[in-house]
Amino acid sequence: MALEDQPTGAASNEDEDLGWVKAGAALILDDESAVHLDIGGHGLCIARSLGKIHAIRDECTHGQVALSEGYVESGYVECWMHGSQFDLTTGVPTGPPATEPVAVYPIRVDGDNIEVRLPISDD
Ligand code: FES
Repeated sequence: MALEDQPTGAASNEDEDLGWVKAGAALILDDESAVHLDIGGHGLCIARSLGKIHAIRDECTHGQVALSEGYVESGYVECWMHGSQFDLTTGVPTGPPATEPVAVYPIRVDGDNIEVRLPISDD
């Protein structure tokens, strides 16, 4: 099966990123769920919602809480600590207390495998 781009988030500068990095098997992820992965120095929340895979930074912008431990539903992940919801496609929170977007990484699916395009650093 040909690689299939899922346009999520802002485009990366090819000279300043790690390129496409394998992130595991897409099939192990149930719909409306998320897992944490550490890849290339990045903590990632890999989520599947509405049948689509997303990769975002696994840290709420309101506090140091893993979004992968939150609740995934209808294209959003809800932080379990104070309830801010983040759009899995844009990273933008829908309301307080979080006000800053979470980093979103481009992702593509090759058959059963997920690949994520990571920057060298997103700090
Ligand atoms: S720590 Fe996530 S909303 Fe407060």
